[in-house]
Amino acid sequence: MSITILGVETSCDETAAAVLVDGVELRSNIVASQVEVHKKFGGVVPEVASRKHLENVNPVIMEALDKAGITLRDITAVAVTYGPGLVGALLVGVAAAKALAYALDIPLIGVNHLEGHIAANFLARPDLEFPLLCLVVSGGHSDLVYMPHRGVYQPLGRTRDDAAGEAFDKVARAMGLGYPGGPLIDKLARQGDPEAIKFPRAFLEEGSLDFSFSGLKSAVLNYLNRARMLNEEINMADLAASFQRAVVEVLVDKTIVAAERCEVKTIMMAGGVAANGGLRSLLEQRAADVGCRVVYPPLNLCTDNAAMIACAGYYKFLRGDFAPLTLNAIPGLPL
Ligand code: KG4
Repeated sequence: MSITILGVETSCDETAAAVLVDGVELRSNIVASQVEVHKKFGGVVPEVASRKHLENVNPVIMEALDKAGITLRDITAVAVTYGPGLVGALLVGVAAAKALAYALDIPLIGVNHLEGHIAANFLARPDLEFPLLCLVVSGGHSDLVYMPHRGVYQPLGRTRDDAAGEAFDKVARAMGLGYPGGPLIDKLARQGDPEAIKFPRAFLEEGSLDFSFSGLKSAVLNYLNRARMLNEEINMADLAASFQRAVVEVLVDKTIVAAERCEVKTIMMAGGVAANGGLRSLLEQRAADVGCRVVYPPLNLCTDNAAMIACAGYYKFLRGDFAPLTLNAIPGLPL
């Protein structure tokens, strides 16, 4: 008998639902993005996000079922993100999933959002061989995670302040580029010189695999303020390229150190920033030098979606790792 998982994701500003059969057959993957709503504020407004999730969650779930050509009765289990994320946003998905699990008398599976991002890799490549290393870089996270086996996560390093995506978004806002900033900086950087402006790289103390991007962000803001005060012309493409190179170099350096330390042969990338062209090419190049290959999910599965939650849920289902109906949203949920 096949296993049909309904995945639900509402941790930030995307209301998403997906239907996944047997861990690989993605029947539907619906994402209702709130980007347009939050754009005018230059970032996600938590209260607005919760309200939008409330409006969207049921229609998005129904659309996912329709598109998959199934009804509620065909679902084997429902998997939902219960953290980390915005508490009001998470609560909407968790409440919807609990209601379905209770009404249909099917298992409820709680999924960590980071576990979901990592699982996006297994959708297209269920046979990836362990041990694996994953660089998770998104709007809320910059994490290096070692996976000796499936379902086992050993965090090696994390951001101490701004996440990589957050730094992209804040710098883009200061440059007047708009929101979300990552793809806009990525595009602009292609026309610029990454060596034009020397920005600091925060490698932190010897051997640390943690990240810190707030110093770099301040350096860019100071550069902009100074140039504007002195009425100097700013080459935005050079600025974007130099900032991006500073982020990417640190991410890549630490990922390679971790890969060698853990003796992995495959490095996975996950999260919205994994879409970054500069990051992909430098990581691939440096990984090849140490005999590693780099894999990443297709672009639409790098950013927040429910297919990745359904996929993580599928492997938890196989392990019988179910959540009670008292499952609560945990905004600071560790991996
Ligand atoms: O994974 P995601 O949808 O959200 C979180 O779980 O946080 O990632 C969104 C983040 C945003 O900060 C966005 O600016 C960044 O990913 N992003 C990028 C690119 N595409 C999206 N950053 C750099 N380069 C890109 N091409």
